[in-house]
Amino acid sequence: MEKINAVITGVGGYVPEYVLTNEELSRMVDTTDEWIMTRIGVKERRILNEEGLGTSYMARKAAKQLMQRTNVNPDEIDLVIVATTTPDYPFPSTASILCDKLGLKNAFAFDLKGACCGFMYALETASSMIVSGRHKKAIVVGADKMSSMVDYSDRATCPIFGDGAAAVLLEATAEDYGVMDSILRTDGKGLPFLHMKAGGSVCPASYFTVDNKMHYLYQEGRTVFKYAVSNMSAITAQLAERNGLTKENIAWIIPHQANMRIIDAVAQRLEIPMEKVMVNIHRYGNTSGATLPLCLWDYEKQLKKGDNIIFTAFGAGFTYGAVYAKWGYDGAERK
Ligand code: UT7
Repeated sequence: MEKINAVITGVGGYVPEYVLTNEELSRMVDTTDEWIMTRIGVKERRILNEEGLGTSYMARKAAKQLMQRTNVNPDEIDLVIVATTTPDYPFPSTASILCDKLGLKNAFAFDLKGACCGFMYALETASSMIVSGRHKKAIVVGADKMSSMVDYSDRATCPIFGDGAAAVLLEATAEDYGVMDSILRTDGKGLPFLHMKAGGSVCPASYFTVDNKMHYLYQEGRTVFKYAVSNMSAITAQLAERNGLTKENIAWIIPHQANMRIIDAVAQRLEIPMEKVMVNIHRYGNTSGATLPLCLWDYEKQLKKGDNIIFTAFGAGFTYGAVYAKWGYDGAERK
């Protein structure tokens, strides 16, 4: 039987219009542009500040652009996965809302919660479902409205995050392109260092939880930083080695955009020059599940058919891993 691969055939993205600059942030908390640029590397981030709009709004905009660019027939989409930690509602899924808004009638859709690794987990899941032969065309979205859980009086976390969404179309192909290999891990050791204290089944929302600011993202940054550098570097090196990938034949590393110092350290440990590393953290900050596809969105024009690319990320859980893909089209030819 012919081997089926799952290949990315298009990208769409969306970031909200409102730009929150370091200048504005330094009027909200005790910080400076210089501290944020040196310690994190974010110059500005986008914020979805219109009332009543959530993650599905951005996901919908990204997926709409994707569908226009690829000219895909909506009736042929049979799978939708939305990687998000900030769904519109605890239930139903953001993916179900997306199906309605996009007019998708033949899709099986669900949310996937993998924190900052969500897009990689969703890509691997959708790819496996396509390779199984049961699904043919999937929309995989990474989308997060991080501003919905950031405490804008906490200077240690508020400069980091932003809002955004991006989507890819993943299709079955008999050609030798697409998602080739992955190593994904979840160790659960990260709970104390990165979580939201309330709003789940252990500690449902109450006046107490609201009064005590327990619905915000809590992070012990230094610990997360150390785990992120070592795990992302080690797992990417392992994936590269077992696929015969070297600094010569890797076209792009697409790292999670959490901190410029993490990106630099990972590139350095892998001995990959920065010209081969996708970076847009300065413009959008950490958009969690959206960082990796937003990089594809920004760099699409530079991607060439046959390029070896490696995604790598680290996030709450801890979740971490790397995905190797062979790019399937010349981005420069896309409108
Ligand atoms: O995407 C999910 C995974 N998350 C990550 O990968 C995030 C990993 N962690 C990080 O990126 C960094 O740890 C942070 C950006 C969160 C923090 O940077 P850091 O270099 O680890 O700073 P720190 O927390 O060790 O704080 C150093 C100092 C402290 O002052 P003292 O105690 O040395 O006097 C902080 O109070 O910097 C201070 N500080 C600030 N100063 C100015 C913390 N935030 C700020 C700020 N402006 N915004």
